[in-house]
Amino acid sequence: MSFATFKDAMLSGETLVFGHRGAKDYAPMNTIPAFELALEQGAAGIELDVHRSKDGHPVIVHDFTVDATTDGDGNVVEKTLDELKRLDAGSWFSDEFTGLKIPTLDEVFEAVGDSLLINVEIKSMDTETDGVEQVVADCITRHNMRDRVLVSSFNPMTLKRFRPLLPHVMIGFLYMAGMQMDTESMIEGFAHEARHPYVDMIDEQYMTWANDNNYFVNTWTVNDPERAKELKSLGVNCVITDAPDLILKAIQ
Ligand code: G3P
Ligand code: MG
Repeated sequence: MSFATFKDAMLSGETLVFGHRGAKDYAPMNTIPAFELALEQGAAGIELDVHRSKDGHPVIVHDFTVDATTDGDGNVVEKTLDELKRLDAGSWFSDEFTGLKIPTLDEVFEAVGDSLLINVEIKSMDTETDGVEQVVADCITRHNMRDRVLVSSFNPMTLKRFRPLLPHVMIGFLYMAGMQMDTESMIEGFAHEARHPYVDMIDEQYMTWANDNNYFVNTWTVNDPERAKELKSLGVNCVITDAPDLILKAIQ
C-alpha cells in the first residue's frame, strides 16, 4: 500500500502498518537495511528516532547513548557526525550486519523517502532545546518531504517548538500511562493532528474520544497479530510494529 502524502494515508480509512525503527525484529534498529526491509515486507511507512549530533546533523539512534546499539559509548548529542559514523551499528545485532553505520535523516530520506511515509520521532527530554527541531525541519525542507512525514515526540515542548518551523507538517503526541511527568496536561490547548498512544491505552472508549477530538490514532508497539486485528476493527489509523510481515499477514 502506498500513499502520496501522510494525510492521504491517514484519511484512507485503512489501518496502515509501519515498521518500528524499521523491521526491528529482523535487522539492527534504525539502520538503512532495517528500513529497506520494512519496505520489502510491504509496510506503508517507518518510524524512526532522531537526535541532533554535536555538530548539527539529524542522526538516527533510539537511545540517548550509543552504548546499546554500537561498539562505542557516550551520549549521542555529545558526538560529531564523524565520530558517530566511525561506530559499528550492526554487529550488536548479528555478525551479518557488522560495519553498518548510524544513518542521518538525510540518508534515510534518500534511501526510502520516495517509497515510504516516515514518522520522525524527535528524542528530547529537556525543557530547553539543543536545536534538534530546527535541524529536523531543515532536513525535511531540503528533501521536500513536508507532505510525507509526521513528526512525533513524547516531549510537548519539542512539538510546540517544531510547529512554527513547518506549520503544515503533521504532528503526533506520544504518550503512555505512568509517565514521570504529566505531559498530557502540557499538551492541552496545543493543536495537533494525531495521538500516538501506547497500544494498551486503546479501547472503544478511547477511539470514540479520539474521533470526537479529530485525532488520528497511530499506536505502538503492535507485535501480536490478534491485537492488530482488534485495533483494525476499532479503526486505528496506523499500527507501528517490529515485525511488519507478521502484522500485515494478520490484517490484510
Ligand atoms: O514512536 C513510537 C515508539 O517508538 C515510541 O517509543 O521508545 O520505542 O521510541 P520508543
Ligand atoms: Mg520511537
